[in-house]
Amino acid sequence: MDLKGKNAIVTGGGKGLGKAVALALANEGANVAITGRNEENLKNTVAELEQLGVKSAYAVFNVDQEAEVQKGIADLAGKLGSVDILINNAGIGNMGKLEDMSSDVWEQVIKTNLFGVYYASKAVYPFMKENGQGDIVNVASTAGLKGGGGMSAYAASKAAVISLSQSMMAEWRKQNIRVITLTPSTIASDMSIGAGLTDGNPDKVLQPEDFAEWVRDILKMNRRALIANGSIFSTNP
Ligand SMILES: NC(=O)c1ccc[n+]([C@@H]2O[C@H](COP(=O)([O-])OP(=O)(O)OC[C@H]3O[C@@H](n4cnc5c(N)ncnc54)[C@H](OP(=O)(O)O)[C@@H]3O)[C@@H](O)[C@H]2O)c1
Repeated sequence: MDLKGKNAIVTGGGKGLGKAVALALANEGANVAITGRNEENLKNTVAELEQLGVKSAYAVFNVDQEAEVQKGIADLAGKLGSVDILINNAGIGNMGKLEDMSSDVWEQVIKTNLFGVYYASKAVYPFMKENGQGDIVNVASTAGLKGGGGMSAYAASKAAVISLSQSMMAEWRKQNIRVITLTPSTIASDMSIGAGLTDGNPDKVLQPEDFAEWVRDILKMNRRALIANGSIFSTNP
């Protein structure tokens, strides 16, 4: 499928995996709007996207606030013309033992990672319904497939994202909306390096560009094909 002229929104598109996906889609000729809280990152990324000759825009909002998400998505849809693709990428990865992590932080991880996906998906649905088609990529994690020590909040949030995403897929598939649940393993980014999960060595560890190529290729598949779930790992980290 040709992505040229498609309108995409990438949450958390100012850095890391989201920025790499935004650039990969723009390289295919898609118009790309990005969201986040850090306006400087968003402005710099929009400048890079525009250099690729596509329409771009940004909106500053916190994905855990429903009213802000609805307003931000509506604003971006207006600037792009509509929404064909949503990449639900924004997320936080606080790690820590159950007894050490404050309840506030635990709740924040769930609110950002789970409610963020829920709010943004609900906000784009009317546009996709009107278009008679759409693609939503939900970025979960291998941590959502199996919990582990020191990651109770993150793993629970991502397990919930997987479940939410699969339910969305079942409901919206009949309306020609492809909902794709991705469970990447560790990829070099501020999040994974900051959490001490990897040193980010590009000779060994997945880079954001690898993830972005994968997302791009999944979206380019003929509309009759829906990759419902997928994982990606470093070969030999
Ligand atoms: N890196 C990995 O190893 C890995 C593996 C599996 C899954 N993932 C998932 O991939 C996604 C991207 O992670 P990353 O590694 O690229 O991390 P990152 O570099 O820390 O980027 C996180 C992005 O999410 C945005 N964000 C975070 N909280 C937000 C909030 N409350 N409201 C709005 N935007 C928010 C950030 O934007 P601002 O800073 O502008 O707010 C930033 O753009 C996450 O969902 C993560 O769980 C990552």
